[in-house]
Amino acid sequence: MKVDAIQVDDVIGRVGRILCEHDRKKGILIHTFQKIQEDHGYLPEDVLNQLAKKLSLPLAEVYSVASFYKQFHFSPRGRKVVRVCTGTACHVRGAKQVLTALQDEFGIKDGETTPDLAMTLETVGCVGCCGLAPVATVNEDVVGDIGKKKLGDMIKSIKEE
Ligand code: FES
Repeated sequence: MKVDAIQVDDVIGRVGRILCEHDRKKGILIHTFQKIQEDHGYLPEDVLNQLAKKLSLPLAEVYSVASFYKQFHFSPRGRKVVRVCTGTACHVRGAKQVLTALQDEFGIKDGETTPDLAMTLETVGCVGCCGLAPVATVNEDVVGDIGKKKLGDMIKSIKEE
């Protein structure tokens, strides 16, 4: 059966509108994730459920978009986010000992948050301060040349907040 050109144009137009609407919703999602995370520090499941319903998108798609971006988190974050650099220079100069000491002190592993939400511990690739190795960041601050004293001070400041 031959389909005339007008029908095809109509179908293309309708599919195009659906795709535009879909892309628009995805664009809204990313901005909305950013706002939700600003408010909550992460993307709570019930809020993502509400968002999926509001936008008439499958919840799996909402999660799929959010999980594509490393900046979005699905569980509460610590007040202090400590990222231990495990790049080559830091590795050679004792990053593993720094990481192990923090894990032992707070009883959490890489990627976890303490139950009291004092700290989230993560590892990260080179943060660009190799001359200061071993390096960690505490929220936005860079801590370099981490030896016993600096490690002790870092632990103390995390526990005090
Ligand atoms: S390897 Fe750690 S700052 Fe570069």
